[in-house]
Amino acid sequence: MTALAQLPFEQARPLQTAPGLRALQARGPVHKIRTAAGDQAWLVTGYQEVRRLLADPRLGRSHPDPASAARTGESVLFGGPLGNYETEEADHTRMRSVLQPHFTPGRMRALRPRVQALTSALLDELDRQDRPADLGEALAAPLPILVIRDLLGVPYQDRSRFRAWTRAAADVRDRARSEQGLADLFGYGRQLVARKRDHPGDDVISRLSATSGADDDEIAMLSMFLLFAGHETTVVAIGMGALMLLTNPQQWQALRDDPGLIPAAVAEMLRALGKGGGGIPRYARADLPISGVQIRAGDLVLLDNGAANHDAKAFPDPDRFDITRQAASHLTFGHGPRYCIGATLARIELQTVFSQLIPRFPGMRLAVPVEELTLDTGVLTGGLTRLPVTW
Ligand code: HEM
Repeated sequence: MTALAQLPFEQARPLQTAPGLRALQARGPVHKIRTAAGDQAWLVTGYQEVRRLLADPRLGRSHPDPASAARTGESVLFGGPLGNYETEEADHTRMRSVLQPHFTPGRMRALRPRVQALTSALLDELDRQDRPADLGEALAAPLPILVIRDLLGVPYQDRSRFRAWTRAAADVRDRARSEQGLADLFGYGRQLVARKRDHPGDDVISRLSATSGADDDEIAMLSMFLLFAGHETTVVAIGMGALMLLTNPQQWQALRDDPGLIPAAVAEMLRALGKGGGGIPRYARADLPISGVQIRAGDLVLLDNGAANHDAKAFPDPDRFDITRQAASHLTFGHGPRYCIGATLARIELQTVFSQLIPRFPGMRLAVPVEELTLDTGVLTGGLTRLPVTW
């Protein structure tokens, strides 16, 4: 009998896939593995399977006996089960119905001018910096927090505290730090909701307070969840997207020549950004077979959307970054009833970034060899530790 594959797969460099993962993926779509927390779980790597299971009600986020459930890691938010097993579906439906009206495509499109203005101001600042400069610090990290701040109506001066808390909450190794980060975010959220009730503004927290019928605790929880869900994910996407273009100068040039290609380029960045080796956690609510493998109720199933986005059956030559790719829709924002509420906003941010960055810094290039770049493996979302560029 072969030993179980152990997560995380050995560290690959940015834009590279762990060889262990692709070897596993070549053997089939479902694999018994051991998580970083030492527990057994199933890793699903096939595109069709991941897509189907993301929409399968027999898989959920909660567990009937959370204390005994297998875990992926120490992050409180994503390391183990979440929510009440009995009421999960109703709770989730309610959460979506409260949030969705504030994330309609129309509302998101109305944010575009603001995202453009914020991006342009950050690029002005970058232009004034000495070279080389860190594109992560100058653009990828601040933009999403500025956008969420505007969306939620969060004071700008609190931004560095946020970043510290969201990063702590996403810590995959240190449970106490992750718990403290979440508690800090929630405590802050409560204060903010109270302030918005007294002094409402044109923002999601004020509108939730006025219209949703939810109490302060629920609004604080939802707001901080949004902050967490929409922040670090987008930071990683902007950084990795920039790196993909900087290491493919002919595609950078193609976007310079024809900015109409930017939406397709952003879709390809989103597809290519996660290489797999983790994915979206679910717990089986019933015994179910997946491609001939028997999964038992209560088992942890990792729907590896990064690996699925590199399934050669759905994306021929999957490791090639190709902004003209005509392919199946990627699973980076998930699929089905939990499909990312902020997907339109994230796309707007990415499209805005590259629409402005490329014409303004047409000669931008990496300031170090790509081999010197490293990934931050201590947090859930990963991402580049730094991205030095010059122009
Ligand atoms: C590139 C950036 C982003 C990525 C890669 C991303 C990815 C995802 C994924 C994979 C899910 C599904 C999780 C699951 O099935 O359990 C999700 C859900 C969610 N995302 Fe995003 N997201 C991004 C940006 C955002 C933004 C900007 C916001 C809000 C401002 C946001 C808010 C949410 C929320 C509220 C959910 C939960 C939906 C639910 O459970 O029904 N995300 N996101």
